[in-house]
Order: sequence, then structure tokens, then C-alpha cells
Amino acid sequence: MPPSTPRSASPAPVLLKLAIIALVLLIFASAFGYAGGWLGSRGLTGSAMVDALQANADPHPGFRRNHAKGICVSGYFEGNGDGARLSSAEFFTATRAQVVGRLALAGGDPYVADDSVPVRSLALQLRLPDGQEWRTGMNDIPGFPVSTPQAFQELTEASHPDPQTGKPRPDAMKAFQARYPEAAAFGERLKASPRSSSFANDTYNGINAFVFVAADHRRHRVRWSMEPELPFAPRTAAAAEPAARDALFDDLLTRLDQGPLHWHLIVTVAAAGDASDRAAEPWPADRERIDVGRLTLTGASSEPQGSCRDIVYDPLVLPSGIEASDDPLLSARSSAYAVSYRRRAGEPPGDSAINDRKAGSAP
Ligand code: HEM
Repeated sequence: MPPSTPRSASPAPVLLKLAIIALVLLIFASAFGYAGGWLGSRGLTGSAMVDALQANADPHPGFRRNHAKGICVSGYFEGNGDGARLSSAEFFTATRAQVVGRLALAGGDPYVADDSVPVRSLALQLRLPDGQEWRTGMNDIPGFPVSTPQAFQELTEASHPDPQTGKPRPDAMKAFQARYPEAAAFGERLKASPRSSSFANDTYNGINAFVFVAADHRRHRVRWSMEPELPFAPRTAAAAEPAARDALFDDLLTRLDQGPLHWHLIVTVAAAGDASDRAAEPWPADRERIDVGRLTLTGASSEPQGSCRDIVYDPLVLPSGIEASDDPLLSARSSAYAVSYRRRAGEPPGDSAINDRKAGSAP
């Protein structure tokens, strides 16, 4: 049967329909692009960022593509009420939140010698009995070398070893620092901050800015840190001995066998004019700092045994009362962590350097 009349309608409405269809497809395509992790300028994606990170280490299937050497920790967080004037998040009232966390070393090598890595991390998943969740990943460095995903990508690429010699490329790093002077300034701050002797007496900084929303709807831009109750002690030369390969993790396990470890969550409040979209820019030291609660870690377990291995410590998993700021690194992190998770989840789990002989007290 021949097609009936509507098909032979005049060209104008047909073109209009086609335009509408194209517009709808474009909207879907943009939404898909966002979900798929395109991160704005120059088509940078979470996958491209993870590819670049992977190129800085030998392949280690089953492991995180950054912060690969780590251990699961568990415990709880208790708000002391002092955060409630800044944020309505229930974590700041005196409720106890259960914690599954991860202490780790930056870089893609899960068997690296502890002392050779300048960046240690503490990631936390806090959960309330009503199911609310807050995830955060913090590093023990004084801020961040760069402020945009594109700059981080260029930094990762400048860190790629020379393919011929396997050695670092100082010229590439010099060229990078010439383009991003804030990275050189960060390098100076890093050199000036002494390293501690243990995961347990280290301070971990959230680095990115967030927005606390109070019950009266007022909005406060903040950064946060976990500061240890144990006093700072400097790392010793013995940490560089070959026998001290897993020394930071061994030390953590010994300390946890002896009793719980504690940190305080310190919130720093931005003043007008402080940038919340530039992680490389420190805020002046006189900003208001509020101790909003205490973290207690009671146990640890190797990744294959523990419950942190399959958690993505995405900084955008936030409870009601805490929101993302305009910091562009946040969505880049969220996207890259999801890619890293998808890759490792599709591979057989690797053997942890911190085996069960060492990691006894399971979370
Ligand atoms: C655009 C910049 C960044 C990229 C592309 C990036 C990438 C990654 C990736 C791929 C992972 C592994 C995630 C997983 O497999 O679960 C990771 C882990 C981590 N990153 Fe980033 N990162 C960035 C910036 C930052 C910043 C600013 C911080 C600030 C504190 C940070 C802290 C951490 C921490 C603590 C972990 C370890 C989390 C864990 O133990 O699971 N990262 N990063």
C-alpha cells in the first residue's frame, strides 16, 4: 500500500520537525557527554586523565590508578555540635557516624617503598543510621599544585618518564612550571613542610573548597582538614632503609593493636575575596577555624579482606547541608575516580603489599 498523504506535507513543517529532532538529540548528546565525563575545555575526559595517570606507572591490574598502595581502616566520627551554625548536616550534631576509610600513598604503584612517596592520603566514607553519606579524600600536602583539570593533566603528562631511558624529564617539568607559576610556589611550600613519622601523627587536608549550608539557608565557603591528636614527630633517616619498605603501614597496624587513633575535623571558613575555585591558592592563615568533631579509628584490614576496596571516595558524595563549590577540580575528580573504579572492577583483584599476616584487626 502506498504511503498516505501526511508524508507528502509541505517542506517547511518537515524542516521544522527535523530541527526540533536535531535539537532534542543535541540536548541528549550534551547530557550524555556530561555524564560520560567531558570536563569542559579541549575535550578533556575522566578517561583521558586516568590514561595519563596510568602512563606514569607499570600496569597493576585490579588496583586504583592513583593512590594504589593502601589499607582499609574503620571506626567512627562524632560531631561536637560546633559545626551546626555553619551547616545543617546531621554529621555535625552529636550523632555517631560509622566510618570505612582508607590510608594510602599517592601514585600508581601498589608495592612502592613508603618513604619514597611524598603524598599520603586519608579517605573516609561516613554513614549515619538513616543512610546519609559523606565521602571525602584528603592529602597530607599543603594545598595543591594546580587549580584546573587541564593544568593537572599537563602536570601528569610532564611527569611521564622518558620512553627511551625511563628517567624523569626535567625539561618537561620546567616548561610546565613556566606555564603554571603556582605549581612552583606549591613546590616551595611542600619543601618547607616537614614530613611526619607516621600515618597516625599526620594532618590530612581536603584541599578543595565546599559550601556549608546552615539551617537558616546561609552559605559558607569552607575547606577542611583532619588534625591528629598525637603530636607531630619528624620522619627519621631509618625510614629510607630498604627494610622499611612497608614501615608506615607496619607502624599503623602496631599502633592500632595498642588502641584507637584520633583526629579532629577542623573547618576553615573563607572570607570575602578568598578564592573557592582555585585549589592552588592558599587562604590567609588568620581565617576562622572551628573544631567540629572527632574521628576515631579502631581497626585496619588489607584491601582484599577489608570493605574499602570497592568504595569510590568521590568528593561529590555529600550529605544534605554540604554542597560542591565552584572548584573545577571537584567534577574532574568525580569523573576520574569513576573511570578508575570501572577499570579496576573489571580486573582480577591484585595482591596487596599489606598482607593479612600484617593487617590483623579487620574492620
Ligand atoms: C583533577 C585532579 C585529580 C585527578 C584526575 C585525580 C585522580 C585520582 C584517581 C584516578 C584516583 C583513584 C581513585 C579510585 O580508583 O578510587 C585518586 C585517588 C585519590 N585522590 Fe585524586 N585526583 C585529582 C585531584 C585530587 C585532589 C585535589 C585531591 C585532594 C585531596 C585528591 C585526593 C585523592 C585521594 C585522597 C585519593 C585516594 C582515595 C582512596 O583511597 O580511594 N585528588 N585520584
